[in-house]
Amino acid sequence: MRLLWILALAISIISCKSKAEIEMEQYYNRGEILYTQYCSNCHQADGKGLGLLYPPLDKSDFMEKNLDEVLCIMRNGKSTPTVVNGKTYEQPMQGVTALTDLDIAEIATYIYNTWDHKRGIVKVDEVSAKMNSCKSE
Ligand code: HEC
Repeated sequence: MRLLWILALAISIISCKSKAEIEMEQYYNRGEILYTQYCSNCHQADGKGLGLLYPPLDKSDFMEKNLDEVLCIMRNGKSTPTVVNGKTYEQPMQGVTALTDLDIAEIATYIYNTWDHKRGIVKVDEVSAKMNSCKSE
């Protein structure tokens, strides 16, 4: 009996997650679902994009340098050429206007912590603070 109790205690300690970890997991998991729904058609499930039509997200110097702009692009789209890893992409991207600030935060958390990126959580208040200053392109 005592052994079982110790075992149960050990398991609960090992699986104990901090509030921040749980929040990260929630953002990330919802972000993955939204990414699959709204973005993977073009950028692909593996984030590699498609030729010179759709730029990659798995490795993207553009993403690394322009978090604020990426948040805006998700909702507002982008119609000027974009240079990603030295290649120029000329096709415009249409924004997904239905995305809420929380959706954008979750998708950003997913794409910025998958593949080559390890930025950490992008929270909804950060997104809300930035969405007002999006430039229209
Ligand atoms: C219909 C196809 C399509 C969909 C859907 C789409 N994109 Fe894009 N995306 C593009 C194209 C094309 C560009 C290049 C735009 C330009 O250069 O003007 C782009 C550019 C980008 C960029 C900047 C370039 C880079 O590779 O770093 C990011 C980041 C991005 N998209 C993320 C997303 C996210 C996140 C979603 C889902 C919310 C999404 N896109 C949905 C086609 C798409």
